[in-house]
Amino acid sequence: MKNEIQKRIESLRAQIRTHNYRYYVLDNPEIPDVQYDRLMRELEALEAAHPEMVTGDSPTQRVGAEPVEAFGTVEHAIPMLSLENAFSEEEVREFDARVKRLLGTEEDVAYVAEPKFDGLAVEMVYEQGRFVLGSTRGDGFVGEDVTRNLRTIRSIPLVLRTEEAVPQRLEVRGEVILGIEAFESLNRRREKEGLPAFANPRNAAAGSLRQLDPRITARRPLDIFCYAVGRVDGRSFERHSEALDALKRWGLKVNSNVRLCANVEEALAYYADTEAMRETLDYEIDGVVLKVDRFDLQRALGEKSRSPRWAVAYKFPPRQETTVIRDIVVQVGRTGALTPVAIMEPVRVAGVEVRRATLHNQEEMDRKDVRIGDTVIVQRAGDVIPEVVRAIPSMRTGKERRFVIPDRCPVCGAEVLKSEDEAVYRCTGLSCPAQLKERVRHFASKGAMDIDGLGDKLVAQLVDQGLVRDVADLYYLSKEDLAGLDRMADKSAQNLLDALEASKLRSSSRLLFALGIRHVGEHIAEVLIDAFHTIDRLAEASEEDLVAVYEIGPGVAKSVVMFFGQEENRNVIEKLKAAGVRFESEEKQVASEPHLKGKTFVFTGALSSFTRDEVQEIVKRLGARATSSVSKKTDYVVAGENAGSKLEKARGLGVTVLSEEAFKELIGMK
Ligand code: IVH
Repeated sequence: MKNEIQKRIESLRAQIRTHNYRYYVLDNPEIPDVQYDRLMRELEALEAAHPEMVTGDSPTQRVGAEPVEAFGTVEHAIPMLSLENAFSEEEVREFDARVKRLLGTEEDVAYVAEPKFDGLAVEMVYEQGRFVLGSTRGDGFVGEDVTRNLRTIRSIPLVLRTEEAVPQRLEVRGEVILGIEAFESLNRRREKEGLPAFANPRNAAAGSLRQLDPRITARRPLDIFCYAVGRVDGRSFERHSEALDALKRWGLKVNSNVRLCANVEEALAYYADTEAMRETLDYEIDGVVLKVDRFDLQRALGEKSRSPRWAVAYKFPPRQETTVIRDIVVQVGRTGALTPVAIMEPVRVAGVEVRRATLHNQEEMDRKDVRIGDTVIVQRAGDVIPEVVRAIPSMRTGKERRFVIPDRCPVCGAEVLKSEDEAVYRCTGLSCPAQLKERVRHFASKGAMDIDGLGDKLVAQLVDQGLVRDVADLYYLSKEDLAGLDRMADKSAQNLLDALEASKLRSSSRLLFALGIRHVGEHIAEVLIDAFHTIDRLAEASEEDLVAVYEIGPGVAKSVVMFFGQEENRNVIEKLKAAGVRFESEEKQVASEPHLKGKTFVFTGALSSFTRDEVQEIVKRLGARATSSVSKKTDYVVAGENAGSKLEKARGLGVTVLSEEAFKELIGMK
């Protein structure tokens, strides 16, 4: 009986280990979670009934042991060195040249290129395939014993896989990390509980691992990437790449973006590839590490006091810098939104000089506690605009001043109100010049009316001199008006007038976008014109009509109705028409296929010759439009493979149904 139970326990442990490996190491689970939980519960029940059968390497023993007073110390058999940094291609080429010089060779040296993970280094010792000791790097010679904490990390196997014979003793090194998503959700939870947030994933990982109470560590979803072997008894490797492959087979987690490079050029290409995909990773990396692949060459090169001569860390340019906030000013946007902007001591961040950064709104400023005079951390993440991450309160002198958004518009003096549903403060001045300048700039911009020669400085002059009080006034400017402006030669005045004239023929969707209705961007403007054909018809639409259009939500609907409901806006539209701006766009009339003009199509089911985007594009070109739901007004339903309810509805309503072949014929493809 006991024997049977023992066997069952061992079989359960083996199954659970395999599933853990597939889930946490390979990221490729084989069974659903419920089934896994069932195995785990059965094992827990058996172990509870037979405590004498519990072993330290059982998968149930990861939940976290009792807290300790202090960590013990662990001496590393081989010191855990750090890496020398390189910050440019040139420095990496110098590194490669030095390696070759020291080895006395002119031949290519092969490197293993790996991401440089931003976490904390640990060492794990496996004896006869069992995890027996884990430590932090410490000062490189002596670290802290964090065995009980490392045991709670699911991607660290307690028992190695044995398809390939495991060495008597194996020292593995790797980086413990916390994923970005896990970091963010941990911080959200801490904020709710009134605890201070961690500054970055690395601090969060270090704080989580170096917990005297392993039960806390167990609740943080830490992960690991193994990147090196230390001392190994009972197995030798010729190459680092060979060692990494063996680690993988033993069930240890090795990063999948590791690449063997035949020479330094390939290693540089790896750096570029890795930097390009950096933003797509769920963990932070701050560069790449290049290691000479052959261990005999590594030994020949040796090390300096703190770092090996056979490896280099090629760091990404830093994306965070510190600087000082000189002033905070308020910017008034085209919709009247007041945005606080930090004016900073210029600083280069990731190759770009940063002088200004948005502080978004009052709430954000308060949350980050950013004050004038503060030393702050600024960052550029990916290709987004620079932002102030936070202030560094310890660098305050006492002279810093808080900034509060004024209750009067700094430009026109009108009252500033905060809307209830958003954190934004808005200037209520109908003729606020700051808003007007932004509206005119937007009207003239590339995706809108694309008025060449109407730059920011010119717009400012036109508004400040009272020549332009709304966007329509642009079309009433005379050569004499322009002649009075700064740096306006006769020729450039004429060019501007020509550009204005040309812009009168822009499509209805561009014109609609140019009007600057809140929430109506380029794409939504196209959707609206597709649905309503003209701005005049759109102006008459109700919120109900609008939300019936695919892609139009209540927010857009409300703001469109509000826009056309204002007399001021209707006057501007009349003025634009009177000036000859074209409101009846001809983009829908295609001479070759006029028979489809104004028709509506609904596509349903899978088409074999076109994607959805393609058919949309085709019917649009022919002056028709594609909508998403079938009604009496639908002219054609094109039914592909496995068409469902829309087809039924079409038949019910007596709408013409076309096969894909018939559709091709209709559009002249056959
Ligand atoms: S190899 C002597 N490989 O960088 C070799 N280290 O500056 C040093 N690190 O303490 C270790 N990613 O915490 C190695 N792929 C990687 C690494 C890596 C991150 C860290 C590690 C080490 C520090 C050295």
